[in-house]
Amino acid sequence: MRKDKILVIGANGQIGSVLTKALRAAFGNDAVIATDIRNAVDQAPFELLNILDADRLAEIIDRYKITQIYHLAAILSAKGEANPRGTWNINMEGLFNVLEVAIAKKIDKVFFPSSIAVFGTKSPSIATPQDTILNPTTVYGISKQAGELWCNYYFERYGLDVRSVRYPGIIGYESAPGGGTTDYAVEIYHEAIKHKQYECFLSAHTELPMLYMPDAIRGTLQLMEAPADQIRSRTSYNLAGMSFSPAEIATEIQQFIPEFKISYKPDFRQKIADSWTKSIDDQEARKDWGWKPDYDLHSMTENMLENLYKEYKEAV
Ligand code: SER
Repeated sequence: MRKDKILVIGANGQIGSVLTKALRAAFGNDAVIATDIRNAVDQAPFELLNILDADRLAEIIDRYKITQIYHLAAILSAKGEANPRGTWNINMEGLFNVLEVAIAKKIDKVFFPSSIAVFGTKSPSIATPQDTILNPTTVYGISKQAGELWCNYYFERYGLDVRSVRYPGIIGYESAPGGGTTDYAVEIYHEAIKHKQYECFLSAHTELPMLYMPDAIRGTLQLMEAPADQIRSRTSYNLAGMSFSPAEIATEIQQFIPEFKISYKPDFRQKIADSWTKSIDDQEARKDWGWKPDYDLHSMTENMLENLYKEYKEAV
């Protein structure tokens, strides 16, 4: 057995930063090499990496004798619409660079995050199955669907052990999301504490699938640790936690902060949210590798507010 040496690409991002910490806790600090296009303040070992630079990627892999890659760098749904071709380039060329180097350097395992953005208006909108009609309408969703298929291709054709989940909107207190349609569900907690009010960019009853960060991290590590023969899907697994609308999360927050008020001013992100499904069925992940979320809307809200209160207090 080779000693695990893990490369995280996009380690400053919303998921990347928390995942890097979890990987360091599990594998040892120096077994995890964080990389990002922007410098990190509190990460070491860390290397600057633009995922479009395949030579630099190969060089880092050689230097640190990398055996696993978590490829988290991508442009998300809302931001991606401002520059469709640029987003396609970063999301797809970035993935190809990872898949190609993984073959060339005989990497043991690769993680590729997909998203609920692969679903579209023709997918069943309640309890959406894993294998179903996919008609994504955002460039981000199209790149994730294509990415899933390419991962499967590299598995079938070259035997690359690549694994993937479709993340719903991810909510956490340790990091900020950037450029997504589900970002409101993080912002709302910060604003509830700071200003006791929030203007939401989605309408009151827009229900979307969501997942609390600790569950997302645990699920990701669980998938990557599962024996290879249990991974029956090499495109991507649906991963569900909870589903709620802005009105429902506001009501939940009001249980803890009664004076909290929400108002609605839907923008271009409403159309993106409307194209996605309301809830997803994750029975394949449960069956194949034992996935099960711990948090629901209530327990997540309690935990989010408790941790954010602590953070804001410490910051004063
Ligand atoms: N959170 C992502 C987004 O909103 C979905 O994967 O773009």
